[in-house]
Amino acid sequence: GTPADLLSGAASAVPASPAVPKEATVLFGSQTGNSQGLAKKLAQKLEQQGFAVTLSSMSDFKTNTLKKLHYLFVVVSTQGEGDPPDNAISFHSFLNSKRAPELSGLSYSVLALGDTSYEYFCKTGKDFDERFEQLGARRLVPRTDCDVDFDESAAEWMNRVLESVSQTAAPAVSVSPSEAGSASSAEVQSEYSRTNPFPAEVLENLNLNGRGASKETRHLELSLESSNLTYEPGDSLGIYPENHPQLVDDLIEAMGWNPEETVALDKKGQTGPLREALLRHYEITVLTKPLLEQASKLVPDSTLKELLAAGHKQELRDYLKGRDLLDLIQDYSLKGIPAGDFVGILRKLPARLYSISSSPSANPDEVHVTVRAVRYERGGRQRYGVCSVHLADRIQPGDSLPVFIQQNPNFKLPADPDAPLIMVGPGTGVAPFRSFLGEREEQGAAGRTWLFFGDQHFATDFLYQVEWQRWLKDGVLTRMDVAFSRDKDQKVYVQHRMLERGAELYKWIQDGAYIYVCGDEKYMAQDVHQALQSILVQQGGLSPEAAAEYLTGLQQQKRYQRDVY
Ligand code: 2AM
Repeated sequence: GTPADLLSGAASAVPASPAVPKEATVLFGSQTGNSQGLAKKLAQKLEQQGFAVTLSSMSDFKTNTLKKLHYLFVVVSTQGEGDPPDNAISFHSFLNSKRAPELSGLSYSVLALGDTSYEYFCKTGKDFDERFEQLGARRLVPRTDCDVDFDESAAEWMNRVLESVSQTAAPAVSVSPSEAGSASSAEVQSEYSRTNPFPAEVLENLNLNGRGASKETRHLELSLESSNLTYEPGDSLGIYPENHPQLVDDLIEAMGWNPEETVALDKKGQTGPLREALLRHYEITVLTKPLLEQASKLVPDSTLKELLAAGHKQELRDYLKGRDLLDLIQDYSLKGIPAGDFVGILRKLPARLYSISSSPSANPDEVHVTVRAVRYERGGRQRYGVCSVHLADRIQPGDSLPVFIQQNPNFKLPADPDAPLIMVGPGTGVAPFRSFLGEREEQGAAGRTWLFFGDQHFATDFLYQVEWQRWLKDGVLTRMDVAFSRDKDQKVYVQHRMLERGAELYKWIQDGAYIYVCGDEKYMAQDVHQALQSILVQQGGLSPEAAAEYLTGLQQQKRYQRDVY
């Protein structure tokens, strides 16, 4: 989208049009639920303007209805290296295939969610935006690309959309009932949300690892009492962390700032002392290209400009990786920037999402999370995961944490309590399965369950060992296979255990089992996917291509769901 689009948009492109029906479709492609939340909000606002709205996940959308649509609004995020979220994959590839129809009757706009610390920022949203245009559709308002602090820019996009449709659509005469049942749901709503987090009291904070472990995994229990917040197994808890006080103090000292100086805490006019701003309000541990660009404007004689020059793409990529604000000001001698100017270019400190590890039925008014503390050394300095180490080192029972529930519609138990479950969750990836099994136990569900767990050492890292053993005894858990990667000379991972049990796994899949994978995206989830494919080839006699398609089919039927990060 260019400013020119903006000008040509609502004003000129639309002839005093004869009644475009007041029907709109809002599609979302969402991994963690942010896009879905925004899509739902837009759907509600369109309904308030008298539109009949269809709100749908891209994976549920019937592509043969595309040609009949008049208004289409797409809210989609981008994963890792520019990939669509799982529930956008099929629609994305459909649109980019030869099967995609000509769409000259369609008016559309795209809201893209992303993260400027990734190179392929908002790529999936850009793909959709360009493709609709190629197919002949009319861009109603320009695409907006949102960074992690998306609230304001998303709200602005929504307002532009609403204004534009109010000018182009037929006046409301009679409105057909909405198909988007969930757009105006009647459930009791909590006043707490991502933008208004609930201060939850910490009830427990334990280290799950044994003495001598090389890792530390915290089990936190939080109270949701009187918050009206509810969740389902598979959902995530958002937690707003604080930056490490040591890093904040080092930054202030390196810049020669006064920690008490009053600065902006947000873009809405709230102010407070600098130290507080850097502790609780701004991100100081991630570098992004836009941040470097703005910093270089504040210090015109800095060599930062060279790093940002067109020919240095790879150097910039390497530089941004794993460095924080203290590195930046030391490496590029940014001393001299006034604190007020500096905070003006920082991103808001975003919440961290953790897969919930408690069953809501078994733990009313409580929510549990399982968090691995991230600590490592780099460049002669100790580095800490912002939220994980905040929870591990600085949060005690009795303290409170700002939290909210993030629904994850892409990771849900089957409605059928008899359906078998195959769950693969090494490390903290096991968290949602503690929730799943707790829920199944409460339901008295009859379906078989099979858990694959892995970690480094049996003796120190068998997270929640006692609970799995009790569930095995009670029959809530039918089978469990473990892979302790560092107990033997040869590494064993969950996917190796799966391959060893290939024949039986295949049988479970044949019997209608749902497959869930949670944990590391880059390596584990891909290796597990590969293992599933091999099992289909070896046990089912499928060709590798047919096996891949079979897995895609399972994904579309929601029988293969992933919560990977
Ligand atoms: P490692 O650390 O010994 O390599 C939880 O982190 C467990 O997942 C650990 O046992 C870890 O093993 C293992 N793991 C690391 N990479 C993996 C991969 N590609 N597939 C499956 N498990 C992996």
